[in-house]
Amino acid sequence: MRKEAETISNLKDLRYETNEEKARAYFINLSTHLEKKQHIFTLKKDFNIWKKKHINQFSLVSIYLNKKNVNSTDYQHYIQWLDKKGKLNEYLDRSISYIYMRDIGRALYKSETKKKVHHSIKNMRKTLLSDREDVNSSFNPFRMVETYRWAQKEGVEESLIWVLEKLQEITATIPEELDPTETRRKLTKIIGGVVIQELDEMEANISSEDRASRLSRAIRLGFAYGITYPFIDDILDSSLLTDEEKKDYASIIRITLRTGVVPELTGWLQTYPFMRYVHSELRGAFEYIRTQHSATAWESFLEQSFVFFQSQEEDRDKNLAIKTYSNEDLYVPIILKSASSRLIVRSLVEAPENQQISEQTFYYGIYNQLADDFADMFTDMEEGSVTPYTYYIRYHKQRDDLINPFEMYWTVISYLLHHVYRSDDKTREVILSRAINGLKRFKKKWGKEKYDEVMELLAFDSKLNQIIQRMVKKATEVEFLDKLLRDHVIDDLKKEQKEVNTFKDSVKDIRNQINNILPLLRSDAPSLFLDSITEAANYSLQGGGKRLRPIMTWVMAVKEYKMDPITIEPLLKSLEYMHTASLIYDDLPAQDNASIRRGRSTLHEVYNVATAELTGIFLTQKAVSSQAKLRGYDSDSVLELIYYSSKAAAEMCKGQAMDLDSRGKLLTVDELSEMCFYKTGIGFEASLIMPAILAGVNEAEKESLKRFAKHAGIAFQIKDDILDVEGQSKQIGKNTKQDMLHHNATFVSVLGVNGAKKALWDHYCNALEALQGLKLNSSFLKYLLDYVINRTN
Ligand code: IPE
Ligand code: IPE
Ligand code: MG
Ligand code: MG
Ligand code: MG
Repeated sequence: MRKEAETISNLKDLRYETNEEKARAYFINLSTHLEKKQHIFTLKKDFNIWKKKHINQFSLVSIYLNKKNVNSTDYQHYIQWLDKKGKLNEYLDRSISYIYMRDIGRALYKSETKKKVHHSIKNMRKTLLSDREDVNSSFNPFRMVETYRWAQKEGVEESLIWVLEKLQEITATIPEELDPTETRRKLTKIIGGVVIQELDEMEANISSEDRASRLSRAIRLGFAYGITYPFIDDILDSSLLTDEEKKDYASIIRITLRTGVVPELTGWLQTYPFMRYVHSELRGAFEYIRTQHSATAWESFLEQSFVFFQSQEEDRDKNLAIKTYSNEDLYVPIILKSASSRLIVRSLVEAPENQQISEQTFYYGIYNQLADDFADMFTDMEEGSVTPYTYYIRYHKQRDDLINPFEMYWTVISYLLHHVYRSDDKTREVILSRAINGLKRFKKKWGKEKYDEVMELLAFDSKLNQIIQRMVKKATEVEFLDKLLRDHVIDDLKKEQKEVNTFKDSVKDIRNQINNILPLLRSDAPSLFLDSITEAANYSLQGGGKRLRPIMTWVMAVKEYKMDPITIEPLLKSLEYMHTASLIYDDLPAQDNASIRRGRSTLHEVYNVATAELTGIFLTQKAVSSQAKLRGYDSDSVLELIYYSSKAAAEMCKGQAMDLDSRGKLLTVDELSEMCFYKTGIGFEASLIMPAILAGVNEAEKESLKRFAKHAGIAFQIKDDILDVEGQSKQIGKNTKQDMLHHNATFVSVLGVNGAKKALWDHYCNALEALQGLKLNSSFLKYLLDYVINRTN
């Protein structure tokens, strides 16, 4: 069957050949330029013009850059500083112009592009400068808030939530070898790229509905295309599969792109759960792209994808040990892959046929590829991958016919400047700045010695080399925003990964400590009756509760307010006693009539309703006596705490009453939120406010904590409502689908699952915004909140 399909149609091969022909012609054109040394003459002239803006004897920028060595952590300072010195506009102009040229295929000399760039500069300026408040925080956890708020403004929350859930799922599923964090970054970038492309194609007077639906589509298309990077390229580059299996897998991809139909997984591949997941995700993505396109756009997508895949395969097949590759063997596939990867994005958003943009995109690709290959030269060498650079380093002594890739790079630049972009000033400014920036970054990363070595090997004209080296040393104002952001994002992701791990470890630790102190002792029990109540209470306490509330209290008390972990134990116990009591009541036949809780039979089923009711009272009283045992704090604070605590318990009762009263009713969102605040939010509030009372913090801080707790608590309840529908009973330790059965008024029953998810995200953002005002020492509450929205238990 597969053999048959492989030979079904040679049409795509023919198309590949046409593309290859074109790439070959371009390559020959470039080599002719290179041989004639034309580029050396033009580049000297270009640098002469360019340097006027970039070589200053006493540039403040250079002093700043040299002294402060701007890195991603103070990137916001850097932006502020540029603004103060009146340099921000030029910086943004350079950066945004570059994106228009690289990612959207626009020519900078066109007035239409100029207008768009101008407009984007204004917007970007506003966004960057509005970050002022958290100028002191090296880590900005609030980016997600900005993204979600953008989605709300554009009316594309559903697609954003969908894609975020997908990203979550992928990072949790893919093996370490495929680098989950890097995968997430790449996917996000690709989705962003497709969205930008779509925004660029939109007419100014488009209706907001059309705009929203096109943006939604772009997000989903970006994801559908984006997953091909980890799921095709990265897998084929990795050692997850054997060579035989890779062949099989590559053949499935090839058939798909030839026929437009995804074949079944066969052979060994089928036995890997991960490959089955990959296969089903790719099939879904492929189908989605197909349904979103006209027949012609679909054809063009398949063609570009095939060219992309095939050229990647040719590159992958190369072996650094083989001595006989021709220049053409080395350059034609990279022209093809770099051009097609960009053209795919155009066909993906069904950008109208535009000969000029397609041509520009085609010629441009190799410039970018050679810049990347230059930057990755040492890593590629280590991995034994063949690129024009690694191959040249290995064989230049034996093969004087090999083109010097660095000379090819500058030839491409000269070709682009004068033959594609019409010797335009802005283009010169942008491309030369980018090229010098690339060299500076390389030098900084690998050190002067290694850099000099590389330059000695690659220099092709001593006069031009001198100029270039002088520029690398002296030129200023060659920074780009995308590079800055990239570093920033990479640093953030690394830091976040580390912090998340610490968070998880400490939660586990604290939970263990809490579990150890919870069981009630029977020592003061003279009669059989009281004993059975203690036993019943311990039964409820011992189940697999998450202990979220006392964990929050522990962190606030110990980490934020520096209290002694031993002295707050009575407080931790009291919180879990009250919470457990509320669950015992909630499960009673007269309330939710639940038979499973914390993975075990509910208390009233194991004992009886009367015992359950009494155990509830027993536990709430134990909570009070425990609080009264707080030692080492001033007694007024302890009294205030007990007063607050009993008020909170009373309010939770009100919440539960509202809940029961609303059965079968269609509540408004405001009523729902109020109910959830009382039944769940108050418990969260208590966990944060009680340690704050003991620490004697001021009212303003308490207010911020309350605001955070309110939104976090409501978010927690919404997630609980969603898990009732979408969750796994084993994981949540409760029966699912209970709310509908009992006609409970929940966020899901009122808004539907998708509506509930939007509300969840809105409260998540509100909670994060409240956190922003809190200036806490640790990011614990932020990760706790992330857990609340992503949890599966
Ligand atoms: C359940 O709370 C009651 C709700 C507020 C939804 P938890 O989900 O925190 O329950 P345990 O303590 O982990 O069992
Ligand atoms: C319970 O809400 C809120 C309480 C504080 C008890 P639910 O009734 O949705 O909680 P579960 O789903 O039974 O845990
Ligand atoms: Mg309930
Ligand atoms: Mg319940
Ligand atoms: Mg529930």
